This record gives sequence, structure tokens and C-alpha cells, in this order.
Amino acid sequence: MILIKLGGSIITDKQRPLTPRIAEVDRIAKQLKKIKEPLIIVHGGGSFGHYWSVKFDIHTKPSRYNIRGVSIIKNSMVHLDKIILDCLSKNGLNPYCLPPSDFMSGERPIPGKIAEIKKMAQSHFVPVTYGDALWCGNKKSYILSGDRIMSILARSLRPRLSIFVLNVDGVYSDLKSKKVVRHMRGDRIPIEMIQMDVTGGMARKVQEATRISKMGLRVFFVNGNKPQRIADAVQKARFDGTVFGVS
Ligand code: IPE
Repeated sequence: MILIKLGGSIITDKQRPLTPRIAEVDRIAKQLKKIKEPLIIVHGGGSFGHYWSVKFDIHTKPSRYNIRGVSIIKNSMVHLDKIILDCLSKNGLNPYCLPPSDFMSGERPIPGKIAEIKKMAQSHFVPVTYGDALWCGNKKSYILSGDRIMSILARSLRPRLSIFVLNVDGVYSDLKSKKVVRHMRGDRIPIEMIQMDVTGGMARKVQEATRISKMGLRVFFVNGNKPQRIADAVQKARFDGTVFGVS
């Protein structure tokens, strides 16, 4: 089984609110169609969900956030998800939409529901879920990121490969030279990289990838602007990007 996260920076234009990058999603979908094993897709929020979560100051920590903000974030993610689903379907995949509330109860994963996602993937559906704003009781809500969903699903489903599709070539050893780290050991996160990452986006991805690799699973960061690299990693074990953990 392959678990793949389509990052918000590749599927949307982060500089322009509410702007999908349809051509990129289309090119990625064509590569995903080549994958001949069970596939589960998670996607991020980019200039849809993230845009609104910044505007309404809503975070990953549960709190009594602005109800209107939570509602708008959720609506925007449904909108983005529909764009992704349509594109996957147009390219011959059979996406099956699963908002995270289908397998999460507040902050807790529902094991039986997650096991069912695997069965669906084995039956030639492509389950598609996404980062979202979630209700967690007592008037509180929180943002569940697609990156966090990756490690939640990986822990139960133990995919052969977990792929994070990004808008860059992988993890950079430093931001000046943009030299890509080919292999990250699970226990070594370059602190300088995280400190230089002002948005927190890459740091969170590295953190979740490290978490997954510590489960003894292989993780791969790849540039979605070169979508052939996704199929190469899956089909030929040729990794043009950053591999975490198991080599
Ligand atoms: C974002 O999910 C979810 C919302 C803000 C609603 P992610 O945090 O995984 O999104 P990207 O991939 O970084 O944009």
C-alpha cells in the first residue's frame, strides 16, 4: 500500500487565496494512475484551508475558536477536495471522499474506521482525505493537518511507502545552497532548517515524516512539479528526493 500526501503548496497557489493549481494536480493524477497497488491520498489546505485558518487565527491546539471561522475553513476544504476528486476521477482513478470526521472522533482516531480505509483501497477505491477543521467537543475545535493524518494512517495501516509531494526537491541541508538531503536519519532533524522555516510548514512535515520513519516505515519527500519522480519511486524504487529512515 502507498500513502501519499499532496501538499497544499503543490495543489494550490499559496500566493493567491483560493487558487487551485489544476494543471499540476492533473499531471500528478496521471502519474498516480500508473500505481498498481492500493493507494490512499491525503491532501493539504494550501491557499484554501490555510488561508482562512490564518485569517481567523485557528490552530492545531483545541480551543473555543470563532465558529464562523471553523465553518468557513471546513467549507473551503470541501471546495478544494471536490476539485481534487474531480481531477482524479477525470484521470481514471476511483476516488472515495473521506472527510477526516469519518475516521476521527475529536482528537482520537477510530481504529475500526481506519481499518476499513485499507479494505477500500484494496478493493480499488482510492480513499481521499484531507487536513480539516474538526469539532472536538465542549465547544472546542482544532485544525487537523494532512501531515498529522499521514502519521495517524501510517501507524495503523503500515504502508510500504509514505510519500509527501511538495513544491521543492526535498529537505534542503541549508536554504542558501538548496542542496537536497538524500537520506535523513529518523533521529536527526537539522535544527537550523526548522529555525529558518518561517511558515512552520516544512518543519511539521519533517516532524511527521520522522514519526513515521520511527515506526520502521519508509518515507519519501518528492517534488510534485516533477511528477514522474512519484511513479519512479513507487515502481522502480528510484528516489529522486529525500528518503527518511529505512534505506
Ligand atoms: C491544512 O492541512 C488543513 C487546514 C488548514 C484546514 P495541511 O497543514 O496538511 O496543509 P498544507 O499541505 O500544509 O497546505
